[in-house]
Amino acid sequence: MSYFENNIWSKNEYHTLGRKENDQAGKSIIGSIVVGIFLILLVISLWNIGRHNLSKTYVVIIDTNSNLLHKTSERYLSFGLDSSLLRDMDKFPVKNDTFVNLARYLSPAFVRVGGTSADCIFFNQPVPEVTEKITSPVDAQDISNFTLAGDDYLAVYQFTERAQLRMMFDLNALIRDPDDHWDDTNAKDIINFSKGHSMDIDWQLGNEPNSFRHVFNRPVSAKQLADDYIHLRRLLNQLGYETSFLVGPEVNHIGDNDKAGEKYATEFLKNNENSVDFLTWHQYYLNGREAKVADFINPNVFNRLPIQIKNVQDVIDQTNKNLKMWMSETSTAYGGGAPELSNRFVAGFLWLDKLGYGATAGVDVIVRQSFFGGNYSMIGKDLEPNPDWWVSVMYKQFVSSKVIQLKTPSNFGSIRLYGHCTCPSALISRVPAITVYGVNLNNDFVRISLLYYLKSYPRKNSKSFLYILTADYLQSRDIRLNGEILKLNSDGSLPAFKPVIVDSSQVITLPPFSMAFIIMHGVEHRACET
Ligand SMILES: *[C@@H]1O[C@H](CO)[C@@H](O)[C@H](O)[C@H]1NC(C)=O
Ligand SMILES: *[C@@H]1O[C@H](CO)[C@@H](O)[C@H](O)[C@H]1NC(C)=O
Ligand SMILES: *[C@@H]1O[C@H](CO)[C@@H](O)[C@H](O)[C@H]1NC(C)=O
Ligand SMILES: *[C@@H]1O[C@H](CO)[C@@H](O)[C@H](O)[C@H]1NC(C)=O
Repeated sequence: MSYFENNIWSKNEYHTLGRKENDQAGKSIIGSIVVGIFLILLVISLWNIGRHNLSKTYVVIIDTNSNLLHKTSERYLSFGLDSSLLRDMDKFPVKNDTFVNLARYLSPAFVRVGGTSADCIFFNQPVPEVTEKITSPVDAQDISNFTLAGDDYLAVYQFTERAQLRMMFDLNALIRDPDDHWDDTNAKDIINFSKGHSMDIDWQLGNEPNSFRHVFNRPVSAKQLADDYIHLRRLLNQLGYETSFLVGPEVNHIGDNDKAGEKYATEFLKNNENSVDFLTWHQYYLNGREAKVADFINPNVFNRLPIQIKNVQDVIDQTNKNLKMWMSETSTAYGGGAPELSNRFVAGFLWLDKLGYGATAGVDVIVRQSFFGGNYSMIGKDLEPNPDWWVSVMYKQFVSSKVIQLKTPSNFGSIRLYGHCTCPSALISRVPAITVYGVNLNNDFVRISLLYYLKSYPRKNSKSFLYILTADYLQSRDIRLNGEILKLNSDGSLPAFKPVIVDSSQVITLPPFSMAFIIMHGVEHRACET
């Protein structure tokens, strides 16, 4: 019982796929017949689900006449580099070619340079008081002030430039005057320095300000921070960054019982006078020190995300703002990630599901914490890819910013699937295609039947290309594509991603604990036309 059995088509046969003229009458008759067959299949399948646990068939219906659900940013899948990396530039390989090469495969993306240490940075100037190392009472990380030299800042920027990425820099919000107003002197230096070096950058001010009291013993009210953002927006406009994004307020603790993050964001939005381009918040499912492998495949953990997104959307709606949200720092587990989990195969499920669900919910950008550093990194200290890097690279290749709606009986259990138009670069001879992707959290084979209403006369031999990701065990650092371990070529180039090719109407079998990208070549969808 294997999906490889289905691979009876050679790629060459697919290339003969012909374009057919539309035939209105034929279209509607065939359309009705097809819909009829779908409904019969649906009934049979639902009946099967009830009867047999071992041979579940999930029926997914794609209405190819439906409109676009959302369009995300072209940089939807973005990533972070924690500001703490700036404390020790010798260990931050921004000048290393391998590092640049790995980052470039994720272009286009934002690189957010931010985090707790952002609020400890003094740019090009010695820290005011010499203090011994101070650590955060929340997660024991270093929170002593430190100096960021202009050269080092420039080196990070040059890395983003070489990797064709866009830097977003998190400014220190904790340099304040005795009246508690933000002191912009040091920020002016860094912004002016940036302009002087013709840097194209976007900006933020501070990190998780609603938690300042706990982390720094230095609370800043949401009203005050809103005033500071207005101030910063004016400053950016004056210093030549009028077209750059400013995003905030970088709140965390969304979805907590006391609604601390939601309250802070609400108060901020009521007072910030449209100074931000996107509402930003931070999202984690788990505590890195406590998380277990079972948490990474438990649908209840996955289902925390929709609630958090809804809470943030409610904040935006209730303050009558016309803003999209960014998850500007997010990963599986906080506190640097869960060792041997957040950087292993099993982490891909939460990551791919977050990308999928976030897009259907209208999230504009998702910034993965982190590309490098910590136990949740996409690449290791050895500058070898971790599984999530591969998942992300495939996402960039196959999934465009155009989100379409799939109709599934439920998408909140152990099968979770999402639909987008396929990236133009992944089309074959410009034949239209849609990409369905998602996860199978079952320790079982699962059958997926992807049915679509026909928008026009069916293309002959329309084919689905399957890219199925598995591992030998959940905590493996290796990831297999259609059975083969993914490895970069020795020159750093990507290996060819070899699909399993099946007929589009064929039921697809997903192996236990797998992720899948299914490119349905030859399926025309109204939302993908323009
Ligand atoms: C980049 O990092 C890799 C892995 O640590 C190392 O093997 C390589 O020598 C480095 N390259 C340069 C130019 O430093
Ligand atoms: C870091 O700098 C800020 C701003 O000047 C200051 O308020 C804070 O006390 C300093 N922190 C430490 C630990 O010295
Ligand atoms: C920015 O730099 C320019 C020279 O490059 C200087 O004239 C100007 O005063 C600086 N502005 C601030 C706010 O530091
Ligand atoms: C990963 O977690 C282990 C155990 O908590 C910790 O000792 C280690 O420093 C972490 N690694 C990184 C790169 O943060």
